[in-house]
Amino acid sequence: MSTGSVIKDIACRSCGTNHSVALDEYPCPECGGILSPQYDLSSVSVERADIERRRGSMWRYRELLPIREQRNIISMGEGETPLIDCPRLADRLGVKRVLIKDEGQNPTNTFKDRGLAAAISAAVERDETTVALPSAGNAGQAASAYAARAGLDCHVYLNHQAGAVQKQLVRAHGAELHLVDGRITEAAAAFASDREESGWASVSSFHTPFRHDGKKTMGYEVYEQLGWDTPDEIVYPTGGGVGLVGFWRAYRDLQSLGWLDAEPPRLVVAQAEGVAPVVEAIQNGWEQHEPWDCPHSIAKGLEIPDPGASPWIIEAVNRTGGDGVAVSDSNGLDAAITAAQQAGVEMCVPSAVALAGAFARAADGTYDGDETIVVVNTGAGCKSAGRLGPHARS
Ligand SMILES: Cc1ncc(COP(=O)(O)O)c(C=O)c1O
Ligand SMILES: [Zn+2]
Repeated sequence: MSTGSVIKDIACRSCGTNHSVALDEYPCPECGGILSPQYDLSSVSVERADIERRRGSMWRYRELLPIREQRNIISMGEGETPLIDCPRLADRLGVKRVLIKDEGQNPTNTFKDRGLAAAISAAVERDETTVALPSAGNAGQAASAYAARAGLDCHVYLNHQAGAVQKQLVRAHGAELHLVDGRITEAAAAFASDREESGWASVSSFHTPFRHDGKKTMGYEVYEQLGWDTPDEIVYPTGGGVGLVGFWRAYRDLQSLGWLDAEPPRLVVAQAEGVAPVVEAIQNGWEQHEPWDCPHSIAKGLEIPDPGASPWIIEAVNRTGGDGVAVSDSNGLDAAITAAQQAGVEMCVPSAVALAGAFARAADGTYDGDETIVVVNTGAGCKSAGRLGPHARS
């Protein structure tokens, strides 16, 4: 049965080539640029009310996703995560509402499930047998879970510093875990050289066109959950920027569909002070980042020294009147404890950087008191329990 997907081709952001939907070689075979699915939004046959009646997962938006055949969708109910009102945090920030988009409630406890559900489903649709990726940890865990469900072989490249939970669960799902000395850059290099020889399908972020595409469903959901209305601002914990680009894509789609009745929200990049190349670029008015030599943060998912999609992230920030904010690891941990104690919400360390970023903006006098602020909790607190407990007692 058809999903009704209106995907029409896969475009390269760099050289502008429009590749066929069947493309199975990533990134762009012409120039190595970032690929993105394009949709014929004028032919979408559903309305907002039809979407509202569907329940269950991000595939409620299946017409706007890249999978054509229903049988190829590999799903565990990812998406449709709650948008949690946090009135005590709103008081602390001095704004009208703070809402946490709780992506920790996904099948493998992070927002990575959305992107990998889309990418692994796309691999199934293209008859791939083996997928591979480098990761800071969470994406590797999600990939190994969805690959296992699809019956695909999976190779995950992590560095030694990746979290114990992620390493163990990659193994539990039966994926091949390649542990690499160094940081994500070294894991990515090992992945690239092995893949060249093996021909595995890449589900690496911004190689595959489908991870940022799957993440755009966060943007659709936030809009729908606010009664088809926009918040004033979305603060996003940014490493490679996959999710932030997804939000930007969502709001542009909603505009093209004629479904957006308001201006897109400000998109705010939050990074850790020890690795803040995108914030540095935004604050200096650059169009892209400069790579960082000695990245360091306990927020491992954000420890990305050379985020190749920075021009796209910065475009999203500039076009929405957003900004960038960098916070210390210790302020991030404080924010996670505040969320746990004043809202009950369990945040992992990377996403606490976003809440700390909102606190920093409030302290700078950015807010006027009437705003609705969405903070994206990209992953559950259980991923960082070993950091949070000791910090709460210190
Ligand atoms: C929990 C968590 N939050 C945020 C990020 C950063 O993601 P993005 O590539 O969307 O910036 C990661 C990436 O590993 C992550 O694991
Ligand atoms: Zn290209």
